[in-house]
Amino acid sequence: MTNFSLFQGDICRLPVDAIVNAANNSLLGGGGVDGAIHRAAGPELLNYCRTLNGCDTGDAKISPGYLLRAQYVIHTVGPIWRGGAEGEAALLASCYKRSLEIACQYQLKTLAFPAISCGVYGYPNAAATKLAIAALFDSLSSKQNTLEQIVLVAFSDQMAAYWQAGLGAQKLNWSHYKCL
Ligand code: AR6
Repeated sequence: MTNFSLFQGDICRLPVDAIVNAANNSLLGGGGVDGAIHRAAGPELLNYCRTLNGCDTGDAKISPGYLLRAQYVIHTVGPIWRGGAEGEAALLASCYKRSLEIACQYQLKTLAFPAISCGVYGYPNAAATKLAIAALFDSLSSKQNTLEQIVLVAFSDQMAAYWQAGLGAQKLNWSHYKCL
């Protein structure tokens, strides 16, 4: 059984097995949560990411976490919002599913997600969080699931409200994540 929790703040602080990065196709860093993760992990992360040969939109790749409290970073590339008729929903769902698959391949127990595509990439935030939770819930029913806890991370009050609405729509029990 996988528990959901909600954390408001910087994903880089979390002592989970892996944090997910909302990256771009190059995997060579950027702004937003990507920039914050690279700054907190240190330059070794960029050196490692250079060996990954980028990542397709909707896919994910794993790296060590270096100076982060998290052991790993799972880098995924969300879709840029182009109005909704260009496969954005399927690509966003795929980011969550592929990240979970990789986490389970590595037998991880705790995983934290930012709101992928909800910043620079412009995906409407309420729809993105609702879809994210449905995609996660779907994937967690697989037999390979090793995850005990999924932490949804909000950087603002508004995003926390969207995550809560999404959890409510899926009728999931959840708690506030306490970061020590
Ligand atoms: N911890 C948690 N969430 C954060 C943090 C943080 N430290 N910083 C920002 N967020 P974004 P995207 C939230 O723009 O839309 C990068 O340049 C933020 O408020 O980081 O997928 C990449 O290199 C928002 O809710 O990612 C790509 O080029 C969410 O994280 C591009 O941005 C995602 O916002 C990806 O854009």
